[in-house]
Amino acid sequence: MQPSATDYRWHPIGSAADLRFTPGARVACGPHAIAVFRTAEGFRAIDDSCPHQGASLAEGDQFPDGIRCPWHGWKFDLDTGRGPGGGAVCTSVYPVRERGDGGLEIGLPRAMTSDG
Ligand code: FES
Repeated sequence: MQPSATDYRWHPIGSAADLRFTPGARVACGPHAIAVFRTAEGFRAIDDSCPHQGASLAEGDQFPDGIRCPWHGWKFDLDTGRGPGGGAVCTSVYPVRERGDGGLEIGLPRAMTSDG
């Protein structure tokens, strides 16, 4: 079953014009560092910390379908979080929505937030 918008706590991160994309923009959602990317299909958000040794994925090399870690080159799909080894290694992805005023919000699962 697909999660619904109410399964997330939405964190405002400002408008795209406020973010510095290099190629990803590193933002904080509470204690969580998230990397936001622009893609042809819209904005994508993943955990910023690479699951290998913690490099910032916001500073990786972006491809149309993913991001390559700047330290050791592991690649992650920006839609699914699937990484190397046929997806044996994954990182978390989060929904991004744009409000009517142009502000962006990242949805963190309620289980990840301290106030549920
Ligand atoms: S820290 Fe990302 S591949 Fe090693």
